[in-house]
Amino acid sequence: MRVWFKAWLERPHKEISNSLGKIIDAPKDQSFTDHTTAIGGYDPTAAYQSKEDFFRTYFTGRYVFWHEFLEKHLKATENILSIASGRCINESHFLLKGFQITCSDLEIIPSYEQAKNLFGSFRYLALDITQQRLHEKFDTIFALSLIYIFDENQFERFLKNSYLMLEDRGNLLVDSAGSNDGLISLIWDYYLWWECRAIYFLMIILKRPCNLYLKRHYGFKRSDLDIIEAARSQGFIFCEQQDFDFETELNRSQIYSRLSKRIPFLKLLFRPIGRRIPYIRMFKFQKTN
Ligand SMILES: C[S@@+](CC[C@H](N)C(=O)[O-])C[C@H]1O[C@@H](n2cnc3c(N)ncnc32)[C@H](O)[C@@H]1O
Repeated sequence: MRVWFKAWLERPHKEISNSLGKIIDAPKDQSFTDHTTAIGGYDPTAAYQSKEDFFRTYFTGRYVFWHEFLEKHLKATENILSIASGRCINESHFLLKGFQITCSDLEIIPSYEQAKNLFGSFRYLALDITQQRLHEKFDTIFALSLIYIFDENQFERFLKNSYLMLEDRGNLLVDSAGSNDGLISLIWDYYLWWECRAIYFLMIILKRPCNLYLKRHYGFKRSDLDIIEAARSQGFIFCEQQDFDFETELNRSQIYSRLSKRIPFLKLLFRPIGRRIPYIRMFKFQKTN
């Protein structure tokens, strides 16, 4: 496991666009509010006007990959818990089909009422999975885009609490939440860090300055084995792994993303690298006695 560092560029707002861009050391997220602000927040938006607007706005990219895996593994007859549900983007598809899913997050989200208006009544609980567990048992528990936030201790408590909340032979479906900890992903992360710096200086020369954000602690990256071994050590059996989304990491490079639109051959050339740094790795574990 290693710390995940990330760099990105943003154009300053119009009113300050004449200023020189700045290099900003973005701090690690400390609270629910820090984190949800960083990912766009969970306030009600215009997308809650209809189901179609909701899905058109939010059900894109990685949510589609997650859906493919969940569709294979969730059953309408099961009692299901979703941990770190956020806006319930994946969950809502299943709620509409009558699946019994309890959603949860650190806090009940401000758009819960609007979500119920769209998807019908469902439970949403405040649950910090590193600190507490419910005394109800579930057939399946899943968590999407969560574990990158957790250090080793927190990840262990997440697994332990999930185990205790599962029925015997119940399933835990967990997403790696980001590419793996491996040599290629390390080299790629460093490359992106320096690519952003290079573009930052180029934009100053071109008199179109941007702000450069350097986040030295975005979260954690884990190898397949890190995840599997941690789950085994809490009593789970490893059942299955499926990798998806071989483009998101590559597209974080502005150079790759622009060039590959013009030169499709580049996509073919970079495919073997993309396959080594999948953004989504889904794992299925089963509770044993
Ligand atoms: C990147 S978001 C993912 C949300 C949702 N699964 C999705 O993909 O849209 C991570 C979520 O994890 C939640 N979270 C962070 N720490 C948590 C914890 N200890 N227990 C439960 N949820 C947590 C955050 O509040 C946030 O909503």
